[in-house]
Amino acid sequence: MIKAGLVGCGSLGRTHTKALAKLGDARMAAFCDINEDAAKALCETVDGEYATTDFDRLLVDESLDAIYVCTLHDSHADLCIRSAEAGKHVLVEKPLALTVEDCLAIGAAVKRAGIKLMPAFKMRYYELILKAREIIPEPLMITMQMMDNRWADDMWANQPEQGGGNIMSQGCHSCDILRFMARCDPLAVTAVGGNYYQPIATADNLCAVFEFERGIAGSLVQGDASCPPLLGKFYMQVFAENVSVTLHNRFCTMNVAEKGKDVEVLEGTETGFLEENRAFIDALANDADLPMDYVDGLLGTLMPIQAIASALDHETKPIKSLLSDLD
Ligand SMILES: NC(=O)c1ccc[n+]([C@@H]2O[C@H](COP(=O)([O-])OP(=O)(O)OC[C@H]3O[C@@H](n4cnc5c(N)ncnc54)[C@H](O)[C@@H]3O)[C@@H](O)[C@H]2O)c1
Repeated sequence: MIKAGLVGCGSLGRTHTKALAKLGDARMAAFCDINEDAAKALCETVDGEYATTDFDRLLVDESLDAIYVCTLHDSHADLCIRSAEAGKHVLVEKPLALTVEDCLAIGAAVKRAGIKLMPAFKMRYYELILKAREIIPEPLMITMQMMDNRWADDMWANQPEQGGGNIMSQGCHSCDILRFMARCDPLAVTAVGGNYYQPIATADNLCAVFEFERGIAGSLVQGDASCPPLLGKFYMQVFAENVSVTLHNRFCTMNVAEKGKDVEVLEGTETGFLEENRAFIDALANDADLPMDYVDGLLGTLMPIQAIASALDHETKPIKSLLSDLD
């Protein structure tokens, strides 16, 4: 039985607590939040051991194997690094952090401590994403669109420091899924867009083209101008010679077109949370490699950062070469 502690007992803290309860071989035992009532309320739902506002209590609790970090983005780096230093494995909600420096500091702490850290990119576990990857293992072009309805100006995810805005906060999912489908890293990005209406200085909408290794093109449309009624919030197309897939309806419907065959329509469900938790817990239980590590988190942050920079500076920005410079 893997025992975990949670910091951040809000919406995603609840989601992961429920997922662990379903797995059977893991449980969330300790609950920390700056809001004591939130920690207590969630603790009670699964008959947890204790609720606290003191994060150090989790760190010194020798019975805990792992910490789940489900707080606002500006606290991820500090909480991940302290967890690693206390010898705890970490599952951290996306994005890993909002700056490259913070992502690298997390990576350094993970390596020093020899612990496992997984960024939570749930979309890698969506049924139809996995099916699309199977049908087109070597894509030529991928288009990814994630367009939401207008985010409230005062929501925390829209604040530059706490959340980073839509392109950092949700664009990290989109960028990760582009990389996942391409099966290689982005070399550079060219984007148009920026801050169209946000009263605070956060980029709100952009169109970007990533040049991936092997010449693969990946486009990204990301923002909160409006959720398109026909396609829904998530929309992706993947192309290879004589075959394409189109995913829409929150990635729960996929149309497959293959030369010489009738178009096939596949239906799936919005999976992800349970499967990413299973992957994390299995890796801990078997001392195996994780399917994602801090480098995936770092790229999930670096790709939207460079896309925003490209849009604002009107020039192509490097990605992969920056990574080797940072090493
Ligand atoms: N994977 C997904 O699909 C998905 C969806 C939504 C949110 N998220 C991510 O989950 C994380 C949390 O988002 P949420 O929607 O659950 O937010 P939320 O506001 O519902 O919950 C955050 C909780 O963290 C607590 N908190 C904040 N700072 C803290 C600190 N320093 N120490 C202890 N507790 C602290 C708050 O009091 C709150 O209870 C974010 O990283 C967000 O991007 C992921």
